[in-house]
Amino acid sequence: MTSTEIRKRFLEYFVKILARENMEHVEVPSSSLIPENHPTLLFTNSGMVQFTPYFLGEKNPVSDFGSKRLCSAQKCIRTGDLDIVGISKYHHTYFEMLGNWSIGDYGKKEAVRFSFELLTNKDYGFGLDPSRFYPTVFAGNEDAPEDSETIEAWKSVGIPENRIPKLPASENWWAPGPVGPCGPCTEVIYDRGEDFGPEESVPGLTDNPRYLEIWNAGVFMQFNRNEAGELVPLAKMSVDTGSGLERLSVLLQNVDSNYETDLFRPIIEKIVSLVGEKSSGETKKSVQRVADHIRASTFLIIEGLYPSNKDQGYVLRRLIRRVFDECVWKLDIDSSKIIEIIPTVIEINKERYPEIDKLDFITGVFKTEIDQYKLATDRTRSFIIKNYVKKGVKDIINPFDIYQSQGASRDLIENLAIEQGISIDFSNFDSDVASHQDKSRSNMSQRFKGGLGDHSIETTKLHTATHLLHQALREVLGDLVHQMGSNITSERLRFDFSNDTKMTDDEVKKVEEIVNQKIKEALPVNKVVMLKADAEKTGALHFFGDKYGDEVSIYFIGDSIENAWSKEFCGGPHVTNTSELGSFKIIKEEAVSKGVRRIKALC
Ligand code: ALA
Repeated sequence: MTSTEIRKRFLEYFVKILARENMEHVEVPSSSLIPENHPTLLFTNSGMVQFTPYFLGEKNPVSDFGSKRLCSAQKCIRTGDLDIVGISKYHHTYFEMLGNWSIGDYGKKEAVRFSFELLTNKDYGFGLDPSRFYPTVFAGNEDAPEDSETIEAWKSVGIPENRIPKLPASENWWAPGPVGPCGPCTEVIYDRGEDFGPEESVPGLTDNPRYLEIWNAGVFMQFNRNEAGELVPLAKMSVDTGSGLERLSVLLQNVDSNYETDLFRPIIEKIVSLVGEKSSGETKKSVQRVADHIRASTFLIIEGLYPSNKDQGYVLRRLIRRVFDECVWKLDIDSSKIIEIIPTVIEINKERYPEIDKLDFITGVFKTEIDQYKLATDRTRSFIIKNYVKKGVKDIINPFDIYQSQGASRDLIENLAIEQGISIDFSNFDSDVASHQDKSRSNMSQRFKGGLGDHSIETTKLHTATHLLHQALREVLGDLVHQMGSNITSERLRFDFSNDTKMTDDEVKKVEEIVNQKIKEALPVNKVVMLKADAEKTGALHFFGDKYGDEVSIYFIGDSIENAWSKEFCGGPHVTNTSELGSFKIIKEEAVSKGVRRIKALC
């Protein structure tokens, strides 16, 4: 089934088929990728964003749309995944989300029945086999009880209870960001069978390609999380659902990755046709990254966005410059040829989004940014030649100088250093860049929350995962391993540690297994505050680069501080139990500088 047909069937089910039982929905066009009046969201990251004032009771959907039942295909951008885009089969910067909404109209039972019917019906739906469904539901915590109504709803359409995994908030509680309407959710996981991966007792916890999450078939929005972080009950419950068009296309086109669907295949083929003979090894990842970023940039440009050093414009600048870096340095594609990929992106999308049919305009924005970046590249190259190569310097120990004086990205500095045969020490680079950016872009850093200031569920999970990873590394590689740096965004953790050699695949696997084992053991995570001198006696690990006050807090993982499996000086935040992490995956192990390695991982 083509992606066009999938989108059509989805929307027609809600608009037309449900009219048979007087439950028809109104289709609302996709809103802009740049949300209006939203204090915490840089981009529209899901279908519900444009409906936020309706969930909060500030606006009336009947006056504005003529119904409390709505559906849409929404253009979305998520930037939290940038590090794994191209590597992952399923994550994108730009993607399309299909969804339906009840704004104080129908409830859980109907939401479940609608999604079940659409997914399984052979005539007007997707004809999927319901015996392969594992709909996950919220297990309950201090905010809300187990979602028994949704369990009953799935049972009433024929799913036996033993195929309904009950999962913690980390998996089955959804919110658009740190503030906004939120609640427990139910996600349909589809078992693609043993050809795709090993069987698991609880599907939905790992990224095993056998179990594809195809539809968040209902976020039951009963709360609003306010600026103070409090959950305030909403006057009326609303239903918000979302299904990634790319993901559904993978399943219904029976392919292995989003890049093999009809939404991407022609773009991939076009890029492959341009790849030069001298391209370096990791071609597939780079081709996929270029495809994703060109598509996302094209959609951002038609919103009227220009590359800049601020907010959304900065994201666009980063995307286009990354396209340049991947093409020029990895794929041996001449930078003048990058714009030849744009017509294919337009061709695939113009029927649904006619506004994209502006080749000259889009090409113009790309060209201007590429030319500017080429100049910056040449200037940085001359700077490196003049200040290092000509002076016979073989190691650059302070790349921050180049960043600051030339405005060059880390990737560019690294590529140029390799080109010029110079080794480079990036160990302090990121923290220098971060403090520099904090000063010059405070507005931006607030909106791209990350690090210790961000108390979102995802970030909190990754803080705890970092402690588990630290201890697991010490078990596998020895007690000499210690933390050299850490950086956490809502989508991934990055952990720098001392170690002389590259980790073997076996070591990486072992570390991953230990962390997942500790998650499975559902260990409590506790905090104690003590005087620094006493804290040091507990043997808790601390980051040598940090300065601590007289009183410090220690987070320990286990029943008591004496027999804790992990204990570290830390300000938090952390989850209360390791089971909330769900699962843990290392996506990269690489060198930072001599004796320092870096791991990037996800929950
Ligand atoms: N808003 C929900 C999601 O994006 C449906 O998963």
